[in-house]
Amino acid sequence: MYDLHVHILPGLDDGARTMQEAVEMARVAAECGTKVLLATPHMKDVNEESSVGQARSLLNELSKRVEEANIPITLVMGMENHVVPSLPAMFSRGEALVINGTKYALIEMPFFGKPAYLEQTLFDVQLQGIVPVLAHPERIECIQQDVELLVRFVERGMLSQITAGSLTGHFGSDVQRFTEDLLRRNLAHIMASDTHRPDGRRSPSLLDGLTAATEIAGNKVAQALVLETPKAILKGSKPKLTPPIHALKRRWWQIRR
Ligand SMILES: [Fe+2]
Repeated sequence: MYDLHVHILPGLDDGARTMQEAVEMARVAAECGTKVLLATPHMKDVNEESSVGQARSLLNELSKRVEEANIPITLVMGMENHVVPSLPAMFSRGEALVINGTKYALIEMPFFGKPAYLEQTLFDVQLQGIVPVLAHPERIECIQQDVELLVRFVERGMLSQITAGSLTGHFGSDVQRFTEDLLRRNLAHIMASDTHRPDGRRSPSLLDGLTAATEIAGNKVAQALVLETPKAILKGSKPKLTPPIHALKRRWWQIRR
C-alpha cells in the first residue's frame, strides 16, 4: 500500500517526537503492508519553526535509520500545505511542496469556516499546473455543510484524500457516516493514515480502514484507494477515476409523505 499523508519527520510538527518514534511508525506501517510513506509535515510548522532544507535532511536521516533497521519502507518527500492566500507564491518559492516532485500536492483546507479566498487560491494553484489533493475533506466544516462544494472541486480536477480513521469511527459517528457517503459518491480517491503516532487512533495502519472501505464500496474500489491511485499520484501519472455522483434531487412524487 501507499500512504500519502504521514507526520513522521521527528520534531517538525505534532507528529513523531523523536527519531526512534519515527522508526517505530515506519515499522508498524511496514508490518501492516505499507510500502511507501509520503512524509507530509505541516507547511506552517516547517516554514516558521524549521525549514524545507531541514525537513529534507530529516527525511534522508530517517531513510538511513529505516534501512539499517531492515524495515522494508521507502520514504518520499511531500508536505501538508495549508490554503492561505500566499500559497501559490509559496509553491513558487519552494516553501510549499508537491508530492514527490510531481504535479500533485496535498492541500489542507481550514477546519472551520470558509474564507473568501478559499476557492480562488485553489484555482490559482491549479493555474500553476498543480493538482490539489484535498486532505481529509470529511473533517472540514465547509465540506461537511456543503458536499456539493467538494463535487465542484473534483469536477474541476482536484482529488480527495480520506483518512482511514474517519471510516472506522475514530473521529466520531457523524464523520464516519459522512466519509462513507463520500466513498459511495466517488468523492474519495485515496485513503491515507494521517498518522501522528506509532499506535492509537492515529496509527500508521491502513488495514481497518481498508476493511471498512471494502465493505462499503467493494474490493476493487477499496484497493484503488490504497494501491492504484496513490501509486499513480506518486509517479505523477493520471489515475483512473470515476466521476462523482451528485446528491439525488428528489422529484415531488419521490418525497415520502
Ligand atoms: Fe495531517
